[in-house]
Amino acid sequence: MEIKLSESFLAYKGFKYLKISVAVLIVTLIAYLAHDPGRTPNGGTWFGYTFGVISAGLVLFLAWFGVKKRQYMSGVDLLKGWLSAHVYLGVLVIFLSLFHSGFQLGVNLHSLLWYLVLFTVLSGMYGVFCYVRYPSILTGTRQGLTRTEILLELSELDLQAREVAMGLGDEINTVILRAAQGTQVGGSIRKMLEVEPKDCPTRLALLFVDGTSVSGDEQETALRKLSAVLTRKAELLRRLRTYVRAATLVRLWLYFHIPLSIGALVALVAHVFAVFFYW
Ligand code: HEM
Repeated sequence: MEIKLSESFLAYKGFKYLKISVAVLIVTLIAYLAHDPGRTPNGGTWFGYTFGVISAGLVLFLAWFGVKKRQYMSGVDLLKGWLSAHVYLGVLVIFLSLFHSGFQLGVNLHSLLWYLVLFTVLSGMYGVFCYVRYPSILTGTRQGLTRTEILLELSELDLQAREVAMGLGDEINTVILRAAQGTQVGGSIRKMLEVEPKDCPTRLALLFVDGTSVSGDEQETALRKLSAVLTRKAELLRRLRTYVRAATLVRLWLYFHIPLSIGALVALVAHVFAVFFYW
C-alpha cells in the first residue's frame, strides 16, 4: 500500500509528465537531426537560441519548485503533480541543453553550467531513489502506525515490562528500568542512521532476559511475557529508527540537491550575461 502511494508521484495521472517529456524529446531530437545550421551546431544559431531559452525556462521552472513546496496553499495533490513534472522535465532539460549547445562541451563557463545541471539532475535521481526505497517518508506513516501511535505503544510497553519484572529480582528490574529510561531514538547523525544500535538498552535488556533462567512456573511465565514485551518494543523501535534513518538520508540528500541547483541558477545567470556581454 505504501509503495503504491510513493510511486504515485512518478505515475501521477497515468505518467502524464513522463509521456510529455518523452514526446518533447522525440520531437526535438528529430528537429535537431533534421536542422542544418550551415556550420557546426552551437548555441549562437537561431535554433541554438531557441533551445537555450527553452532550457533556461525549464531550469527556472524546476527551481521554482523550492518556492512552491513552501507555499501554504499548495495541496498534497498539487505538490505531487509538481514533483512529477519536476522529475521528468528535469531529466529532459539535460537533453534540451545539449541540443542548444550542439553537444559542444569543454572547459569553460558555459559547460560548467551544463555540468552543474547534470549533477543537480543526478542528485535528483538519487532523491527519487530515496523516496521509492523509503515510501514512508512520503506517506508519513511507519508500516500502518503513525509516530504518535508508536510512541504511545512504546510507553505502554515500558509500563507493562516494569510491572511484569516486579517479581523477577533486582538484576532484571535494573535492566528493565534502564531500558525504559535510557532508550533513545535519534540524536547525533550517526545515531539517526543506525537502525539497530548495539548499545540500545532495550536490545541489551532483551538479550539479558533471554539469557536468564528462573525456577518455578509463575516466574517462567513472567519471564516469557517480559521477553515478548521487549521483543515487541524492539520491533517498534526498529520501525521508528528505520523511518528516522530514511528521513535523515533524504535530508542529507537535499544538502546536495539544493546547493547544486542554486549553483546551476548562478551559472545560468553568468552564462546569459556572458553571451549578451560579448554579443
Ligand atoms: C536543473 C535541474 C533541477 C533543479 C534546478 C532542481 C531544483 C530543486 C529544488 C529547488 C527543489 C526544492 C528543494 C527544497 O526546497 O526542499 C528540488 C526538490 C526535489 N528535486 Fe529537484 N531540481 C532539478 C532536477 C531534478 C531532477 C532531474 C530530479 C529527479 C530525477 C529531481 C528530484 C527532486 C526531488 C525528489 C525533490 C524533493 C521534493 C520534496 O522533498 O518534496 N530534481 N529540486
